[in-house]
This record gives sequence, C-alpha cells and structure tokens, in this order.
Amino acid sequence: MIPQSFIDSLLARIDIVDVIGQSVPLKKAGVNFMARCPFHQEKTPSFSVNPQRQFYHCFGCGASGNAISFIIQHHGSGFVEAVQMLAEQAGMSVPQDSGAGPATPSGHDAHRPLLEALERVGKFFVKERLRHPRAQAYLAQRGIREDTAESFGLGYAPPGWHNLETALPDIPTAILHDSGMLVSQEAGRHHDRFRDRLMFPIHDRRGRIIGFGGRVLDQGEPKYLNSPETPLFEKGQELYGWPQARQALRQQHEILVVEGYMDVISLSQAGIAETVATLGTAITEHQIKLLFRSAERIVFAFDGDKAGRKAADRAMERVLPLLEEGKQVAFLFFPEGEDPDSFVRQHGADAFRAQMVGATPLSTHVLDHLTAGLTRHQPESQGQFLHRARPLLASLRAPWLAFALKKRMAQWLDVDNEQLEQFLGNLPTEHRPSPKPPNAPLRSRQPPPSLARQLLACLLAQPELAHEAGVPQEDRFATGDDERAVQRIAEHLRHEDVVPPLAALIEHFRHHPDEALLTSVLQREFIALAETPREELVAVYRDGLLRWAQQACQREIQQLSQQGDVEGLRQLLALRKSLDLQLKTRNQGNDSV
Ligand code: UTP
Ligand code: MN
Repeated sequence: MIPQSFIDSLLARIDIVDVIGQSVPLKKAGVNFMARCPFHQEKTPSFSVNPQRQFYHCFGCGASGNAISFIIQHHGSGFVEAVQMLAEQAGMSVPQDSGAGPATPSGHDAHRPLLEALERVGKFFVKERLRHPRAQAYLAQRGIREDTAESFGLGYAPPGWHNLETALPDIPTAILHDSGMLVSQEAGRHHDRFRDRLMFPIHDRRGRIIGFGGRVLDQGEPKYLNSPETPLFEKGQELYGWPQARQALRQQHEILVVEGYMDVISLSQAGIAETVATLGTAITEHQIKLLFRSAERIVFAFDGDKAGRKAADRAMERVLPLLEEGKQVAFLFFPEGEDPDSFVRQHGADAFRAQMVGATPLSTHVLDHLTAGLTRHQPESQGQFLHRARPLLASLRAPWLAFALKKRMAQWLDVDNEQLEQFLGNLPTEHRPSPKPPNAPLRSRQPPPSLARQLLACLLAQPELAHEAGVPQEDRFATGDDERAVQRIAEHLRHEDVVPPLAALIEHFRHHPDEALLTSVLQREFIALAETPREELVAVYRDGLLRWAQQACQREIQQLSQQGDVEGLRQLLALRKSLDLQLKTRNQGNDSV
C-alpha cells in the first residue's frame, strides 16, 4: 500500500502537461492544451488537458483522469507501477505503508537475477534456432518469416539434457532452477526442462522475458510445455504478445484475444498486430481488466470445438461483471478444425478483419447462450431460460446493458418488461443456491439511468428523432434538474433546421448550465448505445416519450387533486388512460416481433 499522503504530494509535484506531453503532442488552446486523443482514433482534437485542475478529458471518447490515470490508461500499467514511474520522474522514492499489505521487496531488485538469466537463456535459444535447420524448417513449414520470428524472439531448445549449464556456465544453477528452466530430480540432480522444442518467450508488459512456452516439432506429448509458475511468471496475470500488440493498440482501440501462441504470431505477421493470447487457460478477471484499460472493444476468438465453446462461456461469465458502459465485447467462433492461424493463412488479413467486424456482440452471445437448446413458448424452456438468466443479470454492472438484455429477454419470453421483472424478482438472486463463478463476484449494481438521461442519450445518438418523434413535453411539476436540462437540449435540437453534428451541439452548450448533464450522458449512456440498431433506438425513444408524458400527467393529477379542480382532473384522468393504453399497445406490438 502506498500512503495517500505520498500520492497527494506526488500529484502536487508533477505537472500533468509534462506527463502527457511526453507521449502526446499538446497544443495550447486558451487555458487548456488540446491534442488528438491517444485513446481513440479521431481527426480533430477533442482531448484536452487542463493544467489548473491537473485533469485531462476527451470529449470524443470520455476518457478522463489525472496524471496517474493517464499512465495507467496509456501504458497499460498497474496503479503501483504508474505511481513508481511518476515518482521516479519527480525524483521521489515511494514509501511503503508499514503493516498494510505484504512486505514485498520492491520487485525490481529481488527479481533481477532471474530476469537477467531468462534474458540470456532467450538469446541462447534464438542462436540455436538460427543454426538448427530442423527449427528453421519447422517455421518455414508454418509460414513464419524470419522478421516475425525475430520480433517474437522465437528460439529453439536443442535436444540434450544439460545444454543450459554448458552454454551459460556463469549463471548459478539455483537461478536457472528458480526461473523454471531446470527440472529437479532426486539426489540434487537436474536437467533442462525444454528439449528439442520451438521456444516462445513470454514477456511481461514491460517486455522482459518471464517464462517460455515450448512446442514439439513433430508429434509428441505434450504439444506445448510451459514454464512452471515462478516468482516472475504467474499464469492468469500475463497475456502472450502484449508488448508486440501494444504498439498497434495506440492506433487501433480494439484488441483481439486468441487462444494460442501460433495464432498471435500468425495474425501479427498478417498485419493484425493487436492480438494477444491467454495461453490455453480461461481468461481471468485480471486479464480482462488489463484489456479494458487499453481497448474499447475486445474481440474474443475461439476455436470451433467444444473446448472453444466452453472457454467462450467462461469468458462471457467473467466479462459481464467487469463490463462498463463505453466498452464493447464480441465473440468470434471458427469452424471445427480451424483456428485464427489457419484462417488468416488461408483467407488473408482482410477476410479476418471482416470476421472481427462481424463478430457476435456480447448481448447477442448472451441471448444465444440463454436460449441454447430451448424451445420458445414452451413453459419448461422458459423456466430454464430464467434459471440461466438470473445469475448473469445479477452479475451485470452496466445498467444500460442490463436494460437492453432484459428487453430482448422479455421478447424471447413473450412477456412485457414488468412481467419479466416479476419473474426475475420471484426468486431473489441473493438466495440462489447454485455457486457463483469464483471470478465473478456479485457487485452492487448502479442505479439504472433515469428516463431523462435515457431520452437524452437516444437524442444524442439520433438527433433526427427530435424532428421525427418529437421532444419531451413540458413537465411543469418535474422535480429534477435533469428533466429541465433534457427539455432544453431537446428543444434546441428541434429548433435547428439542420441537425447539428454532435461536436457543434457540445460546443453550443459549453459553459452552459446544461453542459454537465450533456457530458455525463455522453460518457455513459451515449457510448453504451453505440451498437444499438436504429430501429431499437427509435423504439426506446418513443417508449420513453410516452413514459415521460405519463409521469408528467401523474404529477399534474396530484397537483390538481390538491386544488380540487374537478374538471381539470377529469381531463387528466382521461389523458392518463389514453397514455396507459398507448404504452400497452406499443409493448404488445414489440412483443410480437
Ligand atoms: P492449441 O492446441 O489450439 O494451440 O492450444 P495452437 O496454438 O493452435 O497450436 P498449433 O497451431 O498446433 O501450434 C492453444 C494454446 O493452449 C496452450 C498453448 O498456449 C497453446 O498455444 N496449450 C496447448 C498448452 O499449454 N499445452 C498443450 O499441450 C496444448
Ligand atoms: Mn493452431
């Protein structure tokens, strides 16, 4: 634990403009500095750095934070790493909170001998690869070019039991052993772990070798042998190919997650460099968080076999609780017998990219998962459906996704939203007996977005709606500020003859009292809507307008009944009835889709 007081003084000592300026060309614009956002692709700058508030914000993608968040987001480093990096620049040394947390020796020094040993072992393997025709032939047969092999540091562990000690006599045996390169036998004897295998160095995020995977060159078991867990190498912490992918991620904002070493290498060679692999284990919460920090969209690619399906289910379960609005996840399945490597070699990078674009969105995948093997309109199937849906919904954190999923679930079940809520509520998720997946803790859910925010989000995504479907009517007795702000923004849109681009709208409301709501909806609900098809947006908006009118009507009824205005009340009650009816018919209409 780093004491908060230290973080405060660190932030006071550094200047965010320097920190960001090291990696992003900033231009002064008034009190702020502007640049093209490093976190998403854009033509005109919407990334601004405010030196007074020591804060950055991107109006395009909603990224924001202080100097530490910038390092975390930009370099994909952890919090502690980011603080250490900044402290180093500021000439401060990071103290440890005594007592709190395990007293790990500052990783660096304790691990240095192991890291140095692995670096040298890696070089040795590369040299061996270059002089063994057997290794060269294998790579050639798999279509791997020399420059690719070099950039991934591919090597070859020659046959024999004691190559490492012979080749690197000055590295203490204990170090070779602790780094996972030797296997102990009885009586203090040991031998090389990797023999006659193609070697894939596994790097940490700073590009240092922390372990290896080794593949047999012909038939043999196991096909891949990996370093054991060591003080440096912890499975589930690292993603294979990260340092090579990072470069590409600066421009790409989308990351592809595959299962194997060869998939990463082959895709990278084909020009799809933003690819990492989980190394044959189910993706962990830690890895997902890492991915979300660096990319807006994650595409998971799975082999088309049973193991692939299973891995996909695990990924879905683990990603749902971690998904935040503004992030997207999609799934890509290959036909039986194919994997990303074979696909890209056979069909090329363009075809592969097309697959990535068309990958199944998470929400659709969830629905496929819920309905797999079930029959619509059959009561047992419906029960099974709800049984599957409950834990998934309970783990969800993104309110908008929950909203969208429930809508689709209600459609499949052929019930309206309220009935669905009832079904879901009847068996409270807290008392669910089935065990929850260990990596998907139940989280407290954020409140769903207010109606006002939802309507605004729809309008921002489809400003034409202000003309086509109308705007929220005046609600004289509305209590919240959001309601009034949304009305003002909607009215502004309605009065513009030509629908203004989003940037112009944001500009119009800059320094306006409604700016805060606008930016906050842009960062949350709006981003979450990015993939919603237009028809669905229109339906949500029209639905929302009716609900809005209903609420307004209800408030007015309350006011008038206090005043005893009987004639006014009669009219309002009739209005409410007609609104209720309209909503009901709309819902029935939706259900029969
Ligand atoms: P695959 O068998 O799909 O590997 O296992 P691959 O990368 O397509 O292998 P090639 O194309 O035959 O060379 C996926 C990943 O699972 C891990 C490896 O990380 C592998 O890349 N694995 C697989 C192992 O660790 N051990 C094994 O025996 C097999
Ligand atoms: Mn393969």
